[in-house]
Amino acid sequence: MIDFKVEHIQEVSSTNTYLKDLTKQAGVFEGTVILADFQTSGRGRGSSSWVSNRAENLTFSILVEPGIKASHNFSLVEFVSLAMIDTLTNFGINPRIKWPNDIYIADRKIAGILIENVLVENVISSSIIGIGFNVNQDIFPMELPNPVSLKMVLHRSIKQDEIFRKILDQLNFRYEQLKTGAFDLLHREYCNNIYCSDKKICYFQNERIREGILRGISESGELLIENDKGDITGFLFGEIQIL
Ligand code: BTN
Repeated sequence: MIDFKVEHIQEVSSTNTYLKDLTKQAGVFEGTVILADFQTSGRGRGSSSWVSNRAENLTFSILVEPGIKASHNFSLVEFVSLAMIDTLTNFGINPRIKWPNDIYIADRKIAGILIENVLVENVISSSIIGIGFNVNQDIFPMELPNPVSLKMVLHRSIKQDEIFRKILDQLNFRYEQLKTGAFDLLHREYCNNIYCSDKKICYFQNERIREGILRGISESGELLIENDKGDITGFLFGEIQIL
């Protein structure tokens, strides 16, 4: 079990960056959580940013010390994604994981996950897990392609502290599976919750828009796409972009 210690701050550049800096000090342990009402430079994967209204949503980062082999790094993506799926499913809705770790309701993004690992001799010694979750925001900037919040889905406001505790509980449950080596189970459940599984998708690769059928995710986290000849190719994150 992770013993969560939550530090709630009003404003920070990015909870991931703040927590990463904090880990350079002594006495910062697994389970440290930084929860911020507002991020001035929230970060997404790659070069993207994470934009969220002040005090309407959840933006937080958690320090874990998984101690698993680097070859299992995709299991980290899986355990966090599944904790979010568990939490949302308990509201009676049908969330999906858009590979690798965007959380979707129908065709719209409700949460994003940014995991930053520290490797020591081929072992993931620590990870900062950043989660941005749209809870009560009604209006989003035009430039965001397809955002949605839990309030927009449920047509009622949700207490952020309550849902935050539920996420921490589910993270604990899934982390236990990770720590006990239940990698196959995590992978199976992750695959069962993939957005557009066995459906035709359009994707951008090598400067071209292509079509294929999403045939699942490999154990190492590659997206498997079948082309019109029936050949299946695995792609790493960054090699393609699903449209
Ligand atoms: C993505 O969808 O690209 C990932 C978004 C992750 C956003 C969260 S908000 C809390 C934490 N701090 C950050 O700067 N980013 C993550």
